[in-house]
Amino acid sequence: MRVMVTGSAGFIGGHIVECLEAAGHEVVGFDVRAGEDVRDGDALDRLLPGVQAVVHQAAKVGLGVDVSDLPDYASVNMYGTAVLLAAMARHAVGRLVLASSMVVYGEGGYTCPAHGPVRPGPRVVADLDAGRFEPVCPRCGAEVASVVIGESAQADPRNAYATSKLAQEHLAANWARETGGDAVALRYHNVYGPRMPRDTPYAGVAAIFRSELAAGRAPLVFEDGRQRRDFVHVWDVARANLAALAAPAPPGTLAAFNIASGVPHTIGEMAVALAAARGGPDARVVGGYRLGDVRHIVASPERAAAVLGFRAEIGFEDGMKGFAWS
Ligand code: UD1
Repeated sequence: MRVMVTGSAGFIGGHIVECLEAAGHEVVGFDVRAGEDVRDGDALDRLLPGVQAVVHQAAKVGLGVDVSDLPDYASVNMYGTAVLLAAMARHAVGRLVLASSMVVYGEGGYTCPAHGPVRPGPRVVADLDAGRFEPVCPRCGAEVASVVIGESAQADPRNAYATSKLAQEHLAANWARETGGDAVALRYHNVYGPRMPRDTPYAGVAAIFRSELAAGRAPLVFEDGRQRRDFVHVWDVARANLAALAAPAPPGTLAAFNIASGVPHTIGEMAVALAAARGGPDARVVGGYRLGDVRHIVASPERAAAVLGFRAEIGFEDGMKGFAWS
């Protein structure tokens, strides 16, 4: 299949290109580093003829530094996707695989001992300042237990990046309905692996810790280090994109899938694993918090397994050992 990969020179996009080419697909790269911006309809018009599917990875990523980042998230991620979808319609490209994110859920899933499944609201500053990091039941205030979240959970975007990722999903669903095309949104969990960007305020925590260790400094773990995430290796994420391209999808709709390892770990455990792999210095739990952060977000990988035939293959221990020196 002839496939355009936007963000083809990026961390995840680059691995997807390699994976698709190894599987025999013909890849058309599209990347702002080559002067190609998804907000530029003319550039898309030059490269889309003959393309049968688009794998859309180009995005402004990360949590953002402050509110001055809002226009960029809206412009690159929301407007850029709108321009891309309109161009795909002009060129009768009927298949989209979209890089979405677990951040669309906000906090993960929780159960209250008294009230069953609940979705806690944003954490309160006074609680965070007092070191009370665990979310509480919105009905009775009791501490709640973290459980895996499935794709049908209600979205609750809590920062500009999350809002822009959810907007991308909605725009893709609009495009699918209008054109009869089909769209797959892959909600990536915490992606890590070789060529992960470093030394940027927009980097994920694994890259920050690796950079600190490489500089001989201890990784600094915020909160109490017991916040949970699902770390999924970028090679698995690339395979998920390949699977999404191959899986039959109902026309006119968008289907969303968690892309996760299914084996969550705490940030503290991740820091310890990376520090051990590099022979130190040891991680330090320093407390403190970032306002936009959620506490726990762990996912069910079952829908991706059932529908896309995708399961992550690279385990946490092996993945982190390789990543520590990549
Ligand atoms: C990350 C990405 C997000 C992506 C999502 C899924 C960033 C900033 N976030 O979200 O874009 O969509 O994965 O792939 O790229 N922490 C520390 N020490 C640090 C930095 C962070 O302890 O030096 C902690 C944070 O407080 C948080 C956790 O690590 O509890 C995860 O942080 P991070 O990787 O930045 O963000 P995610 O919310 O997991």
